[in-house]
Amino acid sequence: MALRTLDSLGPLAGKRVIVRVDFNVPLKDGVITDDGRVRAALPTLNHLINQGARVIACSHLGRPDGEPNPKYSLEPVAQRLSELLGKPVAFASDTVGASAEAAVAALGDGEIAVIENLRFNPGETAKDEGERRAFAEQLAALGDALVSDGFGVVHRKQASVYDLAELLPSAAGLLIEKEVDVLDRLTERPERPYAVVLGGSKVSDKLGVIEHLLPRVDKILVGGGMLFTFLAAQGHPVGKSLLETDQLDTVKGYIRTAAEKGIELILPVDAVMASGFAADADHVVAAADALEDTPFGADGMGLDIGPQTAELFAAAIRSSKTVFWNGPMGVFEMAAFAEGTRAVAQALTEVDGLSVVGGGDSAAAVRQLGFADDRFGHISTGGGASLEFLEGKKLPGLEVLGWQ
Ligand code: 3PG
Repeated sequence: MALRTLDSLGPLAGKRVIVRVDFNVPLKDGVITDDGRVRAALPTLNHLINQGARVIACSHLGRPDGEPNPKYSLEPVAQRLSELLGKPVAFASDTVGASAEAAVAALGDGEIAVIENLRFNPGETAKDEGERRAFAEQLAALGDALVSDGFGVVHRKQASVYDLAELLPSAAGLLIEKEVDVLDRLTERPERPYAVVLGGSKVSDKLGVIEHLLPRVDKILVGGGMLFTFLAAQGHPVGKSLLETDQLDTVKGYIRTAAEKGIELILPVDAVMASGFAADADHVVAAADALEDTPFGADGMGLDIGPQTAELFAAAIRSSKTVFWNGPMGVFEMAAFAEGTRAVAQALTEVDGLSVVGGGDSAAAVRQLGFADDRFGHISTGGGASLEFLEGKKLPGLEVLGWQ
């Protein structure tokens, strides 16, 4: 079944519309370092504003454990939103209390307020259904309808994501509609060859997606910290690189399955080995089967894929018609170890077909490395959510909007 979309809510002029967005942005000393998720919410918010709705935007930020904590306040996000919308955004210092009620009551048609972090309230993430539902009822009292547009959080069965959508007339916003459309294309009808590029630190975070995708894709490319568990599974010593010894058998199984099914599992042929985990650490390139044959010996630490691997990956990406990428290839935050991630990002911009950057760290990486969003087919705002979608899991925040 398809998602309920905005038109299913009818005319919204004068109505109080709660919009559940994902404003969970990275902050450093109170400054937003990547506002991609705020920008991604703009089409829906502008659409509602232009219709004359009274918009109440709500989100979580971080994991404040059910208590107010200024470190996780949405106030800087509300300010950024005001700059991006080019209009005032009221801010309520609580979520369902007096400040939120007053902010909502003061809204005129086409005006917008942001209420404080949903997760300052224990009910938002409560495991107890009754507690969660009670908080959702308080939220529901603020609005006449819900537009759910926080794609990054649809894999969480939380009050504002799930229960609230049952309590009010609800529909997916434009961002969720777009995300689901792209990810559904990857799942149901990818143009081939279909390549998936996986990085990030831990294999254990990616087990589900590797298992689900292995029989469905033509190529899997493995970089990031988890590559060392793959190289170790092939029998290569990896020095002090990240290694999940408890995953070695599982990874050996993947290598066997890929060979049996004729799937190209493309593993690194070289890596950048460093003297330690630091931006200014000494580093050299080493072949995958000689990672300890460097001046650092068994103390060396792999922090990026090597240049030959980058070329190999770029060629495999460019010759594909559909590419999904999740997880940086190395420690891209440090310039010396960003080249692998840069090469993969560059290759994705050259795909003659659909290229999708999946969420969180990868999205931040491409922006930090200076790639404009429009050079990719799609940059997902959901890290965990996009992976769980591709794993074929049921996502509560989508099911409640009619998606099956
Ligand atoms: C994310 O950043 O992946 C989403 O905002 C969800 O956040 P969470 O993992 O804290 O639920």
